[in-house]
Order: sequence, then structure tokens, then C-alpha cells
Amino acid sequence: MKTPELPPFDHQPKKYTGPSVDEVLRLRKEFLNPGIFLYYKKPIMLVEGKMQYVWDEQGRRYLDALGGIVTVSVGHCHPDVVDVARRQNETLQHSTTIYLHPNIAEYAQKLASKMPGELKVCYFVNSGSEANDLALLMARVYTGNYDVIALRNAYHGGSAATMGLTAHRTWKFNVPHSFGVHHAIAPDPYRGLWGRDDVDAGKKYAADVKDLLDFATSGQVAAFVAESIQGVGGCVVFPDGYLKHVYEHVRGAGGLCIADEVQTGFGRTGTHYWGFETQGVIPDIVTMAKGIGNGCPLGAVVTTPKIAATLGQRTHFNTFGGNPVVCAQGKAVLEAIEREKLQENALKIGNHILAGLERLKEKHNLIGDVRGKGLLLGIELVKDRQSKEPAREECAQVLEACKEMGLLLGKGGLHAQTVRFSPLGQAFLPAAASGNACPTTFGGLASPHGTSAADPCLARPRSAGYLFPHVLRS
Ligand SMILES: Cc1ncc(COP(=O)(O)O)c(C=O)c1O
Repeated sequence: MKTPELPPFDHQPKKYTGPSVDEVLRLRKEFLNPGIFLYYKKPIMLVEGKMQYVWDEQGRRYLDALGGIVTVSVGHCHPDVVDVARRQNETLQHSTTIYLHPNIAEYAQKLASKMPGELKVCYFVNSGSEANDLALLMARVYTGNYDVIALRNAYHGGSAATMGLTAHRTWKFNVPHSFGVHHAIAPDPYRGLWGRDDVDAGKKYAADVKDLLDFATSGQVAAFVAESIQGVGGCVVFPDGYLKHVYEHVRGAGGLCIADEVQTGFGRTGTHYWGFETQGVIPDIVTMAKGIGNGCPLGAVVTTPKIAATLGQRTHFNTFGGNPVVCAQGKAVLEAIEREKLQENALKIGNHILAGLERLKEKHNLIGDVRGKGLLLGIELVKDRQSKEPAREECAQVLEACKEMGLLLGKGGLHAQTVRFSPLGQAFLPAAASGNACPTTFGGLASPHGTSAADPCLARPRSAGYLFPHVLRS
């Protein structure tokens, strides 16, 4: 198969003059945390990024369909985001909340304007783990209860408390960390007991939460916490109605409902700004990170004034939380999503890609399932469609081969069997809206016909078929 070429892009990366890949690898092995991992057999070193593209030290360009693990939400080095961060860095880099600063106040107001219901009070932290830690504390202080229900196949972070919520052996160290946490079965319509053909699946999976409340706790809990779509777990989309039923059970047991929007927020699901809205619920606490800052260390917890008031019992302080630079950047991200209509774009392009992936599934037995919403997509690979044995090695091969084609993807699931496809919002702006700067992405990459159509992503419905190289031949 002829390797598809990336479409032209008007950006010349700077000449790289730093240490070689081998040298960086050596330094990393000697001086860095041995628990971190690399994706490819021959690691790539990324030294520059511009919107949907990244460059390695040799000047080779890649289309980034992972965005630093669902983090670069509006494009690498988005000019407006860079501009506000640069200006703030030159003016005042840090002050903390013991003094007034306009950025944190204006940003909180803007973020709150994106929230439904009474969710109006913002806390700023530095990461998703910190946001979930704080949400747990809030729920426990507010309710006076301790136990928490989370879901199997969840990822909520790597701090001591959030490792307890996370439910993948891969991320859990063999130390005491889950006291008071009970994991309900994952509402996974592909691998779970009830599939997409069962209209009551949401209710049935939710009954397991009720079971836990009745049999594993005192009947009173602090909270239920879930990602609105499980990201690290391989893009697992819950059946309709699941969260609605769960929230009823949990609120009946005195608990608060926490939505982890670290991957699903900010319009990525396309139909809604927040992932929980796709399930028709309003949580009591929402946690955010990753895409909120387009790559800077920013996380947030948003809750109601009533819940927030209970945390006023003690001083709550976070040195970098709400720093003037990250708040400027966070606000610029919200504005870019609005101005560039990235939510609408995620819906349009996401639906198009999903339809292409469905057609691929018809052709290749290796694909067990395709799923997702907007630009949060998963392609689960199995050795056998009957047994659903995870195809871990094949998934790694797909990633390797796509990298050779200039496309960076992610993987997820307990066995790393699911290709994760969560491209940058900006990357999929139709050509008509973005001019020559980002004329096409997967459509162009995937297309055997070049890139001349006004909106190639939309014009070539079969394009997704070219994303997967030889390994997918059935
Ligand atoms: C859904 C979800 N929650 C929380 C986290 C933890 O975020 P951080 O790595 O910023 O601590 C992650 C990270 O992958 C995540 O995907």
C-alpha cells in the first residue's frame, strides 16, 4: 500500500540543535522515573508543535491524533493561547490567592458561565488527580459520610487517594489505598453483561451500584464518582440512562455525584459541552484538567455554593492553583473553543470518522468494536470476535504502522487493546473555515486522492479505511 502523504501545511519548524534521541534516552534512563513508558519501539522525540501537527528533531511532521493524551484541546501553540500566556509571563508570573488578581476572578466567572444549574463556585488546582482529591474531600466534609462508589475500568489519577478510585491493576501499586472505595461493575456495553441491543442496559448496570450501597456500605455514602466516558479504560460509552439511575440511587444514600470531565469536557463529545450532559444529569461536583489549559498545569473543581460553603470551615490553599498565567491561558482556551466552534466541529467530524470506522469494522475481524462521541473515539481490537480476546500486540502494531504513516494515535483498555483516537479539536476544522493553514487531516492523510477537496474529511466517506495499514487485512 502506498504510504499516504500529509497535506501541505504552512509552518517551517525551527532547526533542532539539541541533544540526540540516543542522548535523551540515556539521560531519561539514568535520571528519570523508571515507571514512565514510551509508546514506540523506536521512540520519537517531539520538539515542536503547531496546531494539529508535531515535528520530531529531524523535522519530520506527524498528525497528532492524541494531543498529549487528550490535553492539547485547541491545537499546539494556538496563537491566542500563546499570546496571552506570553504577555502574562512578561507582566506578573505568580502572586497566589492571598492577593487579588483579575485573571483568576474573570476566568472563574467565564468557566462558571459554561456550567449548568447551581454549579458556580470554582477551585483551581494543578492536575486531574488533585481535582479528584479535592472533590473527594468536599464530598466527605459536606455529607459527613466516608464511603465512595467508583467504577471498574476507571482512571481518576495516580495520587494516593485517586489511585484508590482508579480501577485498573496496571495503575495501582500494591499498597493500602482504597479504604472506603467500592467499585461497581463497568457499564460497558461491549464487554459487559448487557449490550447496546438492551434498552434497559443503563438501568441494569445502575442496579449494581444500588447493590453495593445495600451490601457493601452502611447505606450512607459520601459520593459516586465516574468519568462521563471512560477514557484510559478504552473510550467506554455508558448506556443511555445509566448515570440518571445511578444518581438517584446515590442521592438516596445521602451521597454527592461527581463527574470527572478531565477527558470529556470542553465540547469534545460534540453534542454537549460536558460529557455528563450526554446522560441527561447534573452532577454536584465536576472535576476538570487536561484540555482545560491546552497543555499548562491547570485543573479545576466546580461545585454549588452550598457544597463549597462547607469547605470554608478550614483554610483551603493551593500555591499555584489559579496562578495568573494558567488562568489567562484557561480563559483563552474557552474563547478559542467558542470562536472556532470546536464543539460543533467535534460533532460533525467525529460522526464522519465514526461512520468510516464502522465500515472498517465490517471489513476487518480484528476490530471488535468502534465507539465514542465527537472526537473521543475508540477502536477495540480482538483476536476473535466470539471470545473477544484482547488483541494487545495487534493494537501496538497498528500504532507503530500509523506512526510510520505520520499519524500519532493512543491506546487504552486494561490490555492496551483499544486504539484511542482523540484528535485536537482544531485539527479537524473544515478547510473552508481554516484556509490553507490546516486544510485537511485524516481525510487528507487517509485519502488516496490527494487533498484538493474543499473539505476532504467530509467529502470522502471511506477515508477512515486508510488509517489502518496491513495489520488490519482480515
Ligand atoms: C479521566 C481522568 N481523570 C483524572 C486524570 C488524572 O489527571 P492528571 O494526570 O492530570 O493527574 C486523568 C489522567 O489521565 C484522567 O484521564
